[in-house]
Amino acid sequence: MSKKVLITRIIPLLAKEMLTGAGFEVSVWEGAGPMTQPELINRCKEVNALLSLGADKLDKTFFSTCSHLDIIAQFAVGYDNIDVPEATKLGIPVGNTPDVLSEATADVAFGLMIAVSRKMFFMHKSILQGEWKQFEPLKNLGQQLTGKTLGIFGLGRIGMVMAQRCVGAYGMELIYHNRNRNMEAEQKFNARYVSFADLLAQSDVLSLHSVLSSETKGMFNLELFRQMKPTSIFINTARGDIHIEADLVKALQDGLIWGAGLDVTNPEPMKPDSPLLNMPNVAVLPHIGSATIEARNGMARLAAENIIEFYQSGKVPNCVNPEVLD
Ligand code: 8YV
Repeated sequence: MSKKVLITRIIPLLAKEMLTGAGFEVSVWEGAGPMTQPELINRCKEVNALLSLGADKLDKTFFSTCSHLDIIAQFAVGYDNIDVPEATKLGIPVGNTPDVLSEATADVAFGLMIAVSRKMFFMHKSILQGEWKQFEPLKNLGQQLTGKTLGIFGLGRIGMVMAQRCVGAYGMELIYHNRNRNMEAEQKFNARYVSFADLLAQSDVLSLHSVLSSETKGMFNLELFRQMKPTSIFINTARGDIHIEADLVKALQDGLIWGAGLDVTNPEPMKPDSPLLNMPNVAVLPHIGSATIEARNGMARLAAENIIEFYQSGKVPNCVNPEVLD
């Protein structure tokens, strides 16, 4: 009997085509938004494998009923919506989709950095509001990025592409703070490993590329913003929960930092009355980091491959808890 797979949103067709081509019976949730957790649990009861998205809450409640799943293939590189230790306890491998979205996500970080440094989103809005009247010699001045110091918190795959962009385009100096040294970055970009305190104190642009975990949740608070340069730009394309948004607002209002570019917010979606949306030195995007045709197709392919390979060979090419396969 063929194995059943549930895909929890409409994603590029490629995933369904690959799975049906490999003999799986595939159902797709076609609602306009994600399922509620009870709905998701209910539908999971009827399937063997789940192709999940970041908005699906796969927590202890979920696993208490869905312990029968053979594999979970997440359509994302991040998997903070999944209680991985719980999946591991149950022997369920969890796959993700790294690399294919690194270029797309780094482009958004790079674009936000430039947009903030020149107040681009705010200036665009001012034209719509009829405020472009004349040349202003002393108004709307931004900052140049050439030769500035880029600090990366969490220098992994996406951070490496951001580093390449910034070093190549602006000759930026690269400093970083990680759990482990990144020797490739040190050789390729002359990156300097610094303490977390030095990262805060020395970065002209501080870009977050770390995972969301119990250690990083709510990490960037007022106390940390206070340790940054008043001229610095804060970029978050990782997860909104890593910063405390009310503290970010205050840091910007009090001039503790100069600007901020966000592709991820807290909460998501951001409320349209957020004060951040009216600040000149802020640029916000609605979590579109991986939103290119190439990246989303790549994510669909890797997610489908994780499921197909698992059933065909017992291997999951991109697995976040490979110990369950041993
Ligand atoms: C997704 C992401 O859009 O990959 C990630 O971690 O944040 C995005 O690519 C989102 O999580 C949908 O699953």
